[in-house]
Amino acid sequence: MSVKKCLFPVAGLGTRFLPVTKEIAKEMLPLVNRPIISYGVEEAIASGCEEIIMITGRAKRSIENYFDRSFELEDLLEKRGKKELHDMIIAISNLAEILYIRQREPLGLGHAVLCGEPVCKGEYFGVILPDDVFIHHEPVLSQLIKVHERLGGSVVALEQVEVENVSRYGIVAGKETEPGIFRIDDMIEKPALSDAPSNYAIMGRYVLSPNVFEILHKQGTGAGGEIQLTDALRTLAKSEPVWGVVYKGRRFDCGTQKGWLSANVQLALENPELRNVVLEAVNGR
Ligand code: UTP
Repeated sequence: MSVKKCLFPVAGLGTRFLPVTKEIAKEMLPLVNRPIISYGVEEAIASGCEEIIMITGRAKRSIENYFDRSFELEDLLEKRGKKELHDMIIAISNLAEILYIRQREPLGLGHAVLCGEPVCKGEYFGVILPDDVFIHHEPVLSQLIKVHERLGGSVVALEQVEVENVSRYGIVAGKETEPGIFRIDDMIEKPALSDAPSNYAIMGRYVLSPNVFEILHKQGTGAGGEIQLTDALRTLAKSEPVWGVVYKGRRFDCGTQKGWLSANVQLALENPELRNVVLEAVNGR
């Protein structure tokens, strides 16, 4: 029942972050002291996953390079006696076993997940959308995995959003079977306010049944002309349980410039070495 593989769909174009994302993978932008993507990878490992599968695209080469060995740099740092930096660089490449699969065209999140089928076929797997950075002593993916181990089926992370924001998310309908846990019976991607069945939105963490692949194979395009994961989960929920868990923790949306900037400021303020840097900068000193 345990979940050992985790998919990272990172092949999106990142249009909300243009012009930066014309050349730079948004997942490689720094969040305080390391790239956004590393928070997600650390979360997957802390949740018990042993294999990371990145679904990448042409503009995401820097992610592969980041997690790879860099012998030239290691050699240089060693020769210059910078042991701490040298060890840090090696530790990054030892973080996890990472596989890369190319999504040739950015046809949507559902299609990106389908690209992971050759590796995840036949077993439950985690999905992390690394734009959503969660901070909590118990990783959010681990919170989902525990529900999967206890109740079976697929699990998605939920957050109650402001009603006026429902059209930005996948929104669910369901019955709360125990505090903070919903048995989902319907969901809709980016609904108009009048069509939203609730204000519980799916956030970027999932534990998915391998049966989702068969559904994705047959599924056409949905909202925004993309193959939507939410549409596949809606179909899945008709034949097997899909649970929604109101996660515990704080979420930082690093998929937009404003969200990313705000996350950097908030987390830097909590870092003893950086707090005064931020305060002095905003106070103009
Ligand atoms: P988003 O909806 O955030 O799209 O995708 P995006 O392309 O990253 O960013 P915007 O909206 O254009 O600014 C949610 C997740 O799904 C991945 C993205 O990389 C992100 O992690 N994704 C999306 C893919 O891997 N492939 C796709 O075809 C679409």
